Amino acid sequence: MKAMWFRPRLLRQLLTRSALRKLLVLLLVWTIVEAQLVYRRVARAQLEYEAQDTTLQKNPTRVFIASLHWNNEAILRSHWNKGVLDLVKTLGPENVFVSVYESGSWDDSKGALRELDRDLGKAGVARRIVLDNETHEDLLKSKPGETGWIRVRNREIARDSAPRRIPYLSRLRNLSLEPLRELAENGTRFDHVLFLGDVIFKVPDVIGLLNTNDGHYAAACSLDFSKPPRFYDTFAMRDAKGHEHATQTWPYFRSSESRNALLNGLPVPVSSCWNGIVAMPTSAFTGIKGLNFRGINDTLAESHLEGSECCLIHADNPASRTRGVFLNPNVRVGYNEKAYEAVHQPGSWISLPQVYFGLWKNRIARRFTTPWFKELSVSRRVRRWEQEEEGREEPGQFCLISEMQIIVHNGWKHL
Ligand SMILES: *[C@@H]1O[C@H](CO)[C@@H](O)[C@H](O)[C@H]1NC(C)=O
Ligand SMILES: *[C@@H]1O[C@H](CO)[C@@H](O)[C@H](O)[C@H]1NC(C)=O
Ligand SMILES: *[C@@H]1O[C@H](CO)[C@@H](O)[C@H](O)[C@H]1NC(C)=O
Ligand SMILES: *[C@@H]1O[C@H](CO)[C@@H](O)[C@H](O)[C@H]1NC(C)=O
Repeated sequence: MKAMWFRPRLLRQLLTRSALRKLLVLLLVWTIVEAQLVYRRVARAQLEYEAQDTTLQKNPTRVFIASLHWNNEAILRSHWNKGVLDLVKTLGPENVFVSVYESGSWDDSKGALRELDRDLGKAGVARRIVLDNETHEDLLKSKPGETGWIRVRNREIARDSAPRRIPYLSRLRNLSLEPLRELAENGTRFDHVLFLGDVIFKVPDVIGLLNTNDGHYAAACSLDFSKPPRFYDTFAMRDAKGHEHATQTWPYFRSSESRNALLNGLPVPVSSCWNGIVAMPTSAFTGIKGLNFRGINDTLAESHLEGSECCLIHADNPASRTRGVFLNPNVRVGYNEKAYEAVHQPGSWISLPQVYFGLWKNRIARRFTTPWFKELSVSRRVRRWEQEEEGREEPGQFCLISEMQIIVHNGWKHL
């Protein structure tokens, strides 16, 4: 019987039936109206956001800027350094500390950062700019560390073992936070840590980010774009239910809680995000219970799992559950000029067709794909690992995906 449905003649007959045709027309009209309504809501939210006065909720706000750089000379010279200097001027040089950790670049990132150092000095800004000469090559040649290395079976890729990318990045991120901890012990306090990625951002972006949800958050992050309309950092973003994105284009999310907030132009509750620039209260990192960036245990990574240090930090942060992690869709940054411009169109940053087709694409993706198999395969591996030894536990299971990432001489790669 089922095959009958595929007979074209029958289908044509069905379609000419007026009831069905009316239903289809109704559906079409409804989705067009819906797209219009959502489009207007998003445009209104953007308008209200842009009309807000761009002063900080709390004035002065003391900000500790933390940033890692590797081969970023171009963007440092074209936008980033100037972005930081403009920001410092706005916040007040006495309210900012700039911590930069660069290592092993083979372009002139070091030169670009020396210029920043000099300009920050002139502006009277406290800072620690570390230009580390250890390259990936040096790391690969060094004696394998006690932790953060993984066995590699393919001799063409590495000797016996290779450094894992995530523990490596965690170490650098931790180093970039060291001055914060030292200063806290010395009695110098800040309100927020602002993590700046290698992106184009402007002062209002940062002010908007700091003011997210009226300043109440465990973490607030922007949306990042390299090739819009797709967002960039899929590795660290998880919706309110801990799922990966349903679509890489707007409206992204599978969970209705996250999606509905986005459709209303509100700060989006998520389990994790790290898309370009991120603000967190410093209290997360200082004191005896201060958080560190980390990777998952090497023994768990052996089962071909990996999770971003930028997702695990939210999983480890108790404040994520009480104050919430929010993605602020009004704050959009870009990895290049073209991307930044594309998501800063006046009026509405997304077009009506993008809303219409985006809603459909997301709806279809949610109906016809499920994260269930992927997530089950991850949770099975975590459970097996936990059962192997007493006391094992991984609170950041929602961050994990089936990948293995190692450092190689010219960057990193998947195994
Ligand atoms: C890196 O810096 C250290 C200390 O400043 C120095 O001893 C070492 O020779 C440098 N290595 C290279 C490859 O420049
Ligand atoms: C992160 O930083 C802390 C404190 O500096 C350190 O004890 C820890 O080993 C670091 N973690 C990694 C993965 O490097
Ligand atoms: C904190 O104080 C100690 C002792 O006065 C000093 O050596 C250290 O440089 C200070 N740390 C920072 C980050 O200023
Ligand atoms: C990783 O797990 C092993 C085995 O359970 C344990 O001995 C080790 O301390 C763990 N490493 C870290 C960094 O937690």
